[in-house]
Amino acid sequence: MSETLLDPAPAAASDLTYFALAATAAPSQVAAERIPRAPGELPEVLGGRYKIERLLGVGGMGAVYRARDLLREQFGDPEPYVALKTLSDDFAEYPDANALLYSEFALTARLTHPHVVRLFGFEVDVASQRAFLTLELLKGLTLDQLLSERPEGLPWAELQGIAVPLLDALSHSHQLGVLHGDLKPSNVMLAEDGLRLFDYGLGQPVEGLLPGLPRLCRNRFSAWTPRYAALELLDGAALSAPADVYAVACVLYELASGRHPFRRLSAKQAKAMQLDKVLQCPTQLPAAVWPALRTALAFDEQARCIDSAELLQAFQPRPRTRWQRWLGR
Ligand SMILES: Nc1ncnc2c1ncn2[C@@H]1O[C@H](COP(=O)(O)OP(=O)(O)O)[C@@H](O)[C@H]1O
Ligand SMILES: [Mg+2]
Repeated sequence: MSETLLDPAPAAASDLTYFALAATAAPSQVAAERIPRAPGELPEVLGGRYKIERLLGVGGMGAVYRARDLLREQFGDPEPYVALKTLSDDFAEYPDANALLYSEFALTARLTHPHVVRLFGFEVDVASQRAFLTLELLKGLTLDQLLSERPEGLPWAELQGIAVPLLDALSHSHQLGVLHGDLKPSNVMLAEDGLRLFDYGLGQPVEGLLPGLPRLCRNRFSAWTPRYAALELLDGAALSAPADVYAVACVLYELASGRHPFRRLSAKQAKAMQLDKVLQCPTQLPAAVWPALRTALAFDEQARCIDSAELLQAFQPRPRTRWQRWLGR
């Protein structure tokens, strides 16, 4: 299949989301359909009220800025700051791009959970025609930053303190029919007041939900992060809850051991090398939790017979037995 790779980073080695548009969206064709934009960079004030202050982070698709809400400021709000997500310059040129950002809005807006990022709104700046989201401003470390500081992985109590809210957020999303589609360490933050799962930019509603939402057609537009993508996604299947389970299991294994379960390879490469046969329980993970995590890491979707709620249950603190209470443990 002839594809255009928008992400300049080498796919296998990268933690960035890989975007591929099939030949029908070749850049020359797309260029003709460019969304009219004011020449130059992002305006200083978007939507007449959000003053961009600084860049907080970039991902495969978007750029997130800290912005000051001038309206709230005018009414005396001492903390008028928001995170503002817009498409990166390259990506904003594609005609589907605003729909992608809107889809992220519509999916995230369905979710109300203490560990899912809080969304304020979706707007389009009239002058520049730039679409953007406003979100709660998070301060803290993303899990990829945490992993680079802790290459040996985390002890069980700390791992559990991350796994439980993360799986709780994912299982809440799945219960409401929202698939995340791009679970990886850089899309989870340990914020000052707790963990947040964010970036539903590649998410999808389950079949039948939000029928009016423009659906991204996967054979025209595929996107994934190679080392967290389930095998069936790489083989062209539609996004499903088990694919999110595979991705979150890779993240949890990495947090427990400091290492990706399959040497940072894609599921396709790892399966060809039979790396699942040599997968071992990370030393910091209780043996009782391993069967659940190992099942979630299965390459074959049929064998990955555990859902996010069951995985959450496996990581949840267990009531102490009478013996443990007696021994004071
Ligand atoms: N609400 C937020 N508050 C603070 N920083 C954020 C927020 N959302 C995202 N970021 C930062 O911006 C980066 C990119 O955001 P993300 O939504 O993942 O964009 P992309 O869709 O391009 O991957 C994140 O990894 C994080 O560092
Ligand atoms: Mg991201």
